[in-house]
Amino acid sequence: MPSLLNDAVKLPCGLVFPNRLSKAAMAENLATSDSNPNENFNLAYNRWSDGGWGMIMTGNVQVDVDHLGNFKDPAVQTDYETKSSKLWKAYAAASQKHGSPTIVQLAHPGRQSLRGAGRRGLFAPTIAPSAIPLTIGNNFLDSVITSLAFPRPREMTQKDINTVIRLFVDSARFIAESGFSGIELHAAHGYLLDQFINPKTNLRTDVYGGSAENRARLLLDILKGCREAVPATFCIGVKLNSADHSAANLEDTMTQIRLLVDAGIDFLEVSGGTYENPRMVDGDKPAISQTKSARTAAREAFFLDFAKETRKRFPNLVLMLTGGFRSRAGAEAAIKENACDLVGIARPAAVNPRFAALLLDEGTRDEDAQISLDKVRPGWLPKLLRSQILGAGAESTYYADQIHRLAKGRATAVPGH
Ligand SMILES: Cc1cc2nc3c(=O)[nH]c(=O)nc-3n(C[C@H](O)[C@H](O)[C@H](O)COP(=O)(O)O)c2cc1C
Repeated sequence: MPSLLNDAVKLPCGLVFPNRLSKAAMAENLATSDSNPNENFNLAYNRWSDGGWGMIMTGNVQVDVDHLGNFKDPAVQTDYETKSSKLWKAYAAASQKHGSPTIVQLAHPGRQSLRGAGRRGLFAPTIAPSAIPLTIGNNFLDSVITSLAFPRPREMTQKDINTVIRLFVDSARFIAESGFSGIELHAAHGYLLDQFINPKTNLRTDVYGGSAENRARLLLDILKGCREAVPATFCIGVKLNSADHSAANLEDTMTQIRLLVDAGIDFLEVSGGTYENPRMVDGDKPAISQTKSARTAAREAFFLDFAKETRKRFPNLVLMLTGGFRSRAGAEAAIKENACDLVGIARPAAVNPRFAALLLDEGTRDEDAQISLDKVRPGWLPKLLRSQILGAGAESTYYADQIHRLAKGRATAVPGH
């Protein structure tokens, strides 16, 4: 019998994902020195395009070339005469060559922008809702390295906010014209839109701060502007952190999801974590109330309880759950438990671009339709110095390297094997 992962998923905009498995966003770390996609993007995405995925999500694409998350992030540069539209069109064509719709993840890093990443200059501050610097790790060395790596942010003015809205909207239009199937607004992982949503990083007293509604205002303004700028058939999704979060924040987050649903989104992707607490790759702790018997196969998924709660309250919202999925059994269980409609898979896709095809293949037994990935351990220096920040990039660096291998047609390697 075909797996229920084979079911097609239709979005409110009319776009159909041919099955439930999505390659989740992974920053490729491959852009050219002028922040454009190049042939390496086309080669890597061509591999995923041929991998059986129902949807392909790109790595984060920055809307402001002055503020990149990382040095090699691609950026949409509608303010500059970059002659880049040909490159983006080629990227859209390569990633969708075999029929999987590709969604571009649009982002602004806010205070999570490395010093020197982007054109703003080495000594310019980052921007954020409030001037609260990042705190990574809890020793003196980590605080020194963090302040060297991430400039102190300055509080955004209304003019900055207007510029950010315009950049997202212009980027959405550009991405639609390039031939992609949709965008996802990245409002998770401690990036700018999440910094506004989260009361710990947003201490504003204007209409963008305070209540749950006010903190979601920037995201909603951007969503509305993007909707007006793109065709009705173009998909707009949002990636949001699960209440990272104490129970007190859960209701705020649900209020914000209600606003997104009322404004009209095609899907919501649930994730979690920030640079300060990287739960997006480390996973969430199991709920305290969870008994051993509740540990079903779906438990390999992170953020499962939050997804189920969201589903209960918004039964018609298309939900994508990302993080931790390693097997057909785990993905099927999450669908059967009605936690989500779409299963987002990142790291397995970096070592096996055809991981979706493997899970969907009826001829493959359940015990073979899975992958086991050991944790990538940081090198000896971070351990010796007890430094969180020095060890922080080990997992992403490893998998970004696998993406580079995909682009070069080289064999990839599973960590720990
Ligand atoms: C190399 C790498 C790059 C990532 N880049 C992004 C990104 O650009 N945007 C994003 O939302 N998440 C990013 N993530 C997080 C993944 O989308 C995903 O949430 C996380 O890896 C958990 O899923 P997994 O267990 O299937 O890997 C990245 C993860 C890795 C390993």
